[in-house]
Amino acid sequence: MRQGSLTFARQRSILEMCIKDGVTLSSELSRQALSYDRLRYEWNGARVDLSDSRVAHLEKPRQRHQTPVISLFSGCAGLDLGFEAAGFRHVALAEKEPISCATVRQNRPDWNVIGPPWLDGDISDRKQILADILETTQIKLPFEGVLVGGPPCQPFSIASNQRFSKAGPNFKRTGFEHEDNGPLLFDFIWLLEQLMPRVFLVENVPGLLQIDGGQQLDRAISRLVASGYTVEEPFVLNAADFGVPQYRQRLFVIGARVDGNFVPPEPSGQVPCEAVLRLPLNGAPNHITRMHKAESIQRYMRLGYGERDHLGRVDRLDPRRPSKTVIAGGTRGGGRSHLHPHIPRTLSVRECARLQTFPDEYEFTGPSARQFTQVGNAVPPALAQKLAARLYESYQKGLRSETTAPHPGSRRRGSQLRLPSTESTPR
Ligand SMILES: C[S@@+](CC[C@H](N)C(=O)[O-])C[C@H]1O[C@@H](n2cnc3c(N)ncnc32)[C@H](O)[C@@H]1O
Repeated sequence: MRQGSLTFARQRSILEMCIKDGVTLSSELSRQALSYDRLRYEWNGARVDLSDSRVAHLEKPRQRHQTPVISLFSGCAGLDLGFEAAGFRHVALAEKEPISCATVRQNRPDWNVIGPPWLDGDISDRKQILADILETTQIKLPFEGVLVGGPPCQPFSIASNQRFSKAGPNFKRTGFEHEDNGPLLFDFIWLLEQLMPRVFLVENVPGLLQIDGGQQLDRAISRLVASGYTVEEPFVLNAADFGVPQYRQRLFVIGARVDGNFVPPEPSGQVPCEAVLRLPLNGAPNHITRMHKAESIQRYMRLGYGERDHLGRVDRLDPRRPSKTVIAGGTRGGGRSHLHPHIPRTLSVRECARLQTFPDEYEFTGPSARQFTQVGNAVPPALAQKLAARLYESYQKGLRSETTAPHPGSRRRGSQLRLPSTESTPR
């Protein structure tokens, strides 16, 4: 039994009384000076042994090389925190959502965020974004740094669509035909062709490889090769293989117009989600939990590890394994999260942020549903740091030299398509 949790008899009588008398559980708990965190499941396994668990976290940069980075579709900057920790220096980030921009500005007041309220930050307005980047950074072209970006992936995501019928209005996995988001990959490519960074990295969901048999991605890569880039074979990493306590697969495409050969980071082993969910919260920001109804708690408390509550479509996490993928929860609907492994309630934004390896001091702004969206959209910063460090090592010579000679582009094929090693749990 978790320390401080209620006895079953008391928990049952509170829940039954709330249901019988129509009293809301949150008010009854506070009347009794209790909280949701005192509630418990009917069944808990033995305490998880964490002695071998080395959770990935952002580390101090090994080299402060200050290679400049421009980031597009930067969201709340998960990918960018990784690049920063790997010694890169951001010259611009573009993002159109005001709340994500506010989060980045609050946590990194010195970063040049191109986005509301002062600028639109809408990357589909390509020419304006290019003008804003050039005006606010004063960089010379070609850009002697790295361009990174994760165009929104809903049109390609299997997980975000599997709940809906294909014919229904909610079905979004229409790939490049998607009205708003489909062409954003090509907006990214257009901006890349204008900026001509020395190296680029595109992040997306693995679904981008499968949609239309990979034809559009292939077309995008061919354009980059024609512009002089050597493009690595796209590869998929599962964050769980790199000490991130969460199954999360992401597709990466990396290319360079300087010499080098990208060597991906080596897997370092999996860690259970318990390793971060057991840690005390110590007043960390964004730890607001949902006020579930008594009826919901009664259903949740009967679940075993990894079991699903079909009515609420939420899963109890298994504390012995990495968490299921932290999801964004859609732009209109409320944020959704999994059930805590030991407390019959959904995870708070902070707990999701821990599963994503955000540091506790990184605060998310906006209403809680929008905080979940920002966290659920992000690349785990600790995985991003490993990738960014490898990217620097792989192209170090080309990134350091003053000028680069024109480079004949090519594709590296078949060498390193990395398929996810474990569970398939895309965003
Ligand atoms: C997958 S998320 C990026 C996550 C980010 N790389 C991270 O690690 O935190 C995609 C982002 O693109 C933004 N976005 C969508 N359409 C956009 C547009 N037209 N212009 C600029 N940003 C856009 C979304 O608001 C979202 O924050």
